[in-house]
Amino acid sequence: MSIEITSEHITALKSKGWISVPLGLTPRELLRASDGARMLEEKATELNYPYRRTYFPSLIIKNTAAVEAPFNKVVNNDRVRELFLRIKLGKAIKSLLGWNEVFLVLSRLFTMSSRNYLGHWHRDHEGECWNGDLNALSSVQVAIYLFDQPGFRILKPEFDFNGSKPIVPYRLPKCRLPQMLPSNLYDEVPGNAGTVVFFAPGLAHQGHSVTKRLDFHMRFSSRPNDMVARTPYTREDFSQNIYQDFWVHRDLSESVVLDEISTIPRIVEASTVKKIINDINYYLPVLNFYKSVKSSGSVVAQEHAGVFRVSLFANTLYQSYEYSYSI
Ligand SMILES: [Fe+2]
Repeated sequence: MSIEITSEHITALKSKGWISVPLGLTPRELLRASDGARMLEEKATELNYPYRRTYFPSLIIKNTAAVEAPFNKVVNNDRVRELFLRIKLGKAIKSLLGWNEVFLVLSRLFTMSSRNYLGHWHRDHEGECWNGDLNALSSVQVAIYLFDQPGFRILKPEFDFNGSKPIVPYRLPKCRLPQMLPSNLYDEVPGNAGTVVFFAPGLAHQGHSVTKRLDFHMRFSSRPNDMVARTPYTREDFSQNIYQDFWVHRDLSESVVLDEISTIPRIVEASTVKKIINDINYYLPVLNFYKSVKSSGSVVAQEHAGVFRVSLFANTLYQSYEYSYSI
C-alpha cells in the first residue's frame, strides 16, 4: 500500500490548511522505516556529518536538532530508501494538489533530544509567495512520522490576516523568546507513528516537543523555482533518486559530493561558554528572564504583540508548567 489521497483530504487541506494521512505501511514496514531513521541519525553523529543543525548546543547532552540533506549516500540506508519506494509521496502530492510535477526543495530529519523545545511562531512562506489562499498552493510542507511524538501547532485560517475573524497579523511579532497564542486560535497537529502531515507553508505554525523527535521534514514546490530560495533554481538543478517519485534539488540528492553542496550551511561547533549558558538556562532560566525583561521594555514589542504572550519558560525544564489560555 502507499499513501491514499481521498476527496475528503483535498477538501480538508483547503479549509484548515493541514491534513494527517496514513502512510499505508504494515507494522513490519513501519518498524523497518523507524529503524532506518534511527540508523540515519546514528550514522550522521558517528561520521560527524557536516550538514546538521543545533538550536541549543549543550555540554551535557548531544542536542542536534536536525540532519540536513538526509538522503545523501554518506548517511542514508536501505530502510529509508524502502520507505520512500513504498509510500509514493510524489504521486500523493500530485493527487492532493493537482500538480503536474513535484520538486523537493528542502529536506531534513528532525532529531531533537528529549529536552523541552518550543520554537517561534513563523511562516515558511512570506512576501509575494503567500497571500493566504489555500485553494491554489504552489508549495507544500510535509512531515513523515515514524514514532509517536508531539506534532506542532498551526494557526486556524479563519484567524489569519485574510480570514473571516482576522486576529493574527501578516507580519508576526518579533521577540527574543518564543511566544504563545491562545489555544482556541490554533490546531494541535498530531505526530502519530505511520502518518504523514501535509500543510501550507505560509500558515503560521510553531514546533514544540517534550520527547525525542525523529521525523522527516520536507518542502515541495510545483515548479523548480521555489520562491523561498535565495538563488532561483532552474530545472537543471534537479535530478531523481531511483527510489523517489519526485525531482530532488542537486544538494539534496543521494549522489552529490559533500564538498559540492552550496545551499546548506555546515554545522559550526558552538563555544563552550555558549553551551554552559544554555545548560544553566535550561535548569535555572536566568537568560530567559533577562530576555523577557528586555522584550517587555520595548515599546515596539508591546504595540505589536497583540494576542501573543511571551513564553517565559520556553526551552527550559519548566516549559510544560506554562498553561495554555484562550480568548
Ligand atoms: Fe516552519
